[in-house]
Amino acid sequence: METLNMIKSRRAIRKYSGQITDEQLKKILMAANAAPVSLGSYDEYRLTVIQDPKVLAQIGGTYDAPTFIVVSAQNLGSSQYVSSGAIVHNMELAAQDQGLGSNYNMGSMRSVPTEVLPDGFSAVFGLTVGQTTEKFTPREIPMDRIKINIVK
Ligand SMILES: Cc1cc2nc3c(=O)[nH]c(=O)nc-3n(C[C@H](O)[C@H](O)[C@H](O)COP(=O)(O)O)c2cc1C
Repeated sequence: METLNMIKSRRAIRKYSGQITDEQLKKILMAANAAPVSLGSYDEYRLTVIQDPKVLAQIGGTYDAPTFIVVSAQNLGSSQYVSSGAIVHNMELAAQDQGLGSNYNMGSMRSVPTEVLPDGFSAVFGLTVGQTTEKFTPREIPMDRIKINIVK
């Protein structure tokens, strides 16, 4: 999808109609690895892909998504939060590019079972993903949703 159309079409998808393929997952994980992170410290982050229905059932607020990808980090500070946002956003766009439904998720971080995360890492931000029947069409984006001041 052309980049600006893709950005205008992006929206939270919370209805999923099936599991993603391993090939689709691979492209999403590639996009995560292509994300910028503070100081280029990629080893401070981990990606945990949760597809086990028993584990997913323990996590609230994921809208029955068949896949939940959790970004976790060490030494949590503002850089780790912002970088995790960039990682998740890259994954969101890669999901959308493949016609998949996905959504950002911060609300479920506290219910991610610690035993599925690597030792010493805390869940920061996640992406729910699945097949969807929803269509992506460019939206009219109001220019004042985020107030702007230009200094020049
Ligand atoms: C940092 C962040 C955290 C979010 N956490 C959640 C969440 O826990 N659950 C949820 O359903 N949506 C979550 N969202 C999605 C937002 O609610 C959604 O992107 C916003 O309402 C705008 O809607 P749109 O994405 O359809 O344009 C989150 C988005 C961001 C950026």
